[in-house]
Amino acid sequence: MANERSFVTISVVSAQHPGRARFEALLAAEEKVEPADWMPEGYRKTLIRQIAQHAHSEVIGMQPEGNWISRAPTLKRKAILMAKVQDEAGHGLYLYSAAETLGITRDEMVRLLHEGKQKYSSIFNYPTLSWADIGCIGWLVDGAAITNQVMLTRCSFGPYARGMVRICKEESFHQRQGFQIMETLCRGSAEQREMAQDGLGRWWWPSLMMFGPHDSDSTHSDQSMAWKIKRVSNDDLRQQFVDMTVPQADYLGLTVPDPELRWNPERGHYDFGEIDWDEFWAVVRGNGPMNRERIAHKRAAWYDGAWVRKAASAYAARHTGQVG
Ligand code: 3HC
Repeated sequence: MANERSFVTISVVSAQHPGRARFEALLAAEEKVEPADWMPEGYRKTLIRQIAQHAHSEVIGMQPEGNWISRAPTLKRKAILMAKVQDEAGHGLYLYSAAETLGITRDEMVRLLHEGKQKYSSIFNYPTLSWADIGCIGWLVDGAAITNQVMLTRCSFGPYARGMVRICKEESFHQRQGFQIMETLCRGSAEQREMAQDGLGRWWWPSLMMFGPHDSDSTHSDQSMAWKIKRVSNDDLRQQFVDMTVPQADYLGLTVPDPELRWNPERGHYDFGEIDWDEFWAVVRGNGPMNRERIAHKRAAWYDGAWVRKAASAYAARHTGQVG
């Protein structure tokens, strides 16, 4: 199948397009759809929506953690955090590049983000109040991201799935270093243990929200599952994350802030309480604790950095003869 591909531009045509049969055959054969393959316009649009949102999340996610680089407790922790934040920038670049193969430019995605027409993950709209928050972001947020991203390595769109393989390897380091911060605090003084517990208390529920609304309230899940973009549902991924993370909290001696959390031997999973969906939708709609600051900072960084992009394009044009 792969060698029959002709590298034509993606054309948008009606349902009887001959490419549709090949598109559906690729999905059925668990093969990857590549940028030059014909694809339904809806498939292309939802991939642009999701990959752009993922990329924006990686870049905006640098803000809460970057806030602690100058305040890390040791030189070693500072170096690790700097490496992690730089990794996130790289993840954003992989993902913007994957989205660009679908026919949208990076400038367009950034403009849509700045105008509130594209989203980023709700989780990055919470403040980082203590060093334990940096531990919780690595342990819980990157842990949740890995749960979701391992699933995305099986996504039907080639560039996205391949980008996830590299990102998941780096996220594993991110999750480990976050867990190690929490372990150090939990083995420390009473004050440090209290800091760790306070962090878990503030980051647990927002981390569960990362997986999106219940399947029954999900706008895109049915179609995304049919197109093999999403391979596991929001609720099933959330359950995977809870089942993986609660034993880690127990090991740390921390209490998960959910009075309804208990192991259910019949289900072989943890039962857990209901997410505050009013909070979730308020944050998604721009009314979270830090939404305004995050976007203002993002816009300022984009405009302050224009000269760097201009210089890089000029250099590229001079040395490759292309216009940037
Ligand atoms: N934050 C913001 N918006 C969210 C959201 C969240 N946590 N969960 C859902 N939404 C939005 C969706 O974007 C959609 O809105 P839209 O139609 O305007 O785009 C609406 O809520 C309905 O949700 P659906 O379940 O129908 O949407 P999806 O099918 O897209 O599923 C998702 C949501 C599971 C987040 C999916 O988009 C996804 O898997 N995205 C890729 C992973 C990702 O973006 N992760 C973000 C974190 S990245 C990260 O943490 C990096 C780490 O290194 C720190």
